[in-house]
Amino acid sequence: MFITFEGIDGCGKTTQTCRIADYLESRLGEGAVLLTQEPGGWPQGEKIREILLAGHLEHSLSELFLFLVDRCEHLSQVILPALNEGRVVLCDRYTDSTLAYQAWGRGLPRARIEALFDWCAFPRPDLTFWFALPPAVAAERLKRRGGTDRIESADDAFLDRVVAGYEALWREDSARICRIDASRDEEHLFASLRLIVTETVEAR
Ligand code: TYD
Repeated sequence: MFITFEGIDGCGKTTQTCRIADYLESRLGEGAVLLTQEPGGWPQGEKIREILLAGHLEHSLSELFLFLVDRCEHLSQVILPALNEGRVVLCDRYTDSTLAYQAWGRGLPRARIEALFDWCAFPRPDLTFWFALPPAVAAERLKRRGGTDRIESADDAFLDRVVAGYEALWREDSARICRIDASRDEEHLFASLRLIVTETVEAR
């Protein structure tokens, strides 16, 4: 089973992804869960992640292609082997990030990006959590936490477009994408996620 977690920086998804990983592992047994992230979730992925977050890319397509390279290797080296072993894979960001940030955010053509996804044969997640949070609330949380990466430090209008992208993706595919109200406190969020994840795992 392949579960992805999506949302803008500051939405709380990383904390929840870790908590769900611990919860599932306690239920399913040691080694049953793989927790990973994009960009950079494979042995040499840190290098690509550094380039992406440092922000010295000039060509308008470089960022997109680096995310795709990162995903191809992440899938081949990490995600697919784990799925083939029957493990539950939890991934912090995946294809919906590329659509929300590069298509809606940067304005690259969605159809071309999706054609590349098809060509790369990226598997579709079984379940995706979208942590919905207004950019202003996320920005407030981040200010308390201290700093953002380059992609997220883009202007507010950019993050509004990213959130609009997630919203559109959720409306199109609400059977896969589950919208989580990320303005709630950590314990409430965890309780909702745990319920949905448990139902999904048990349905399998
Ligand atoms: P990261 O530090 O992992 O952010 P977070 O903790 O919010 O997940 O930074 C990843 C950044 O890369 C984040 O700003 C979203 C962006 N991103 C894209 O623009 N496209 C993508 O396909 C992916 C995977 C991430």
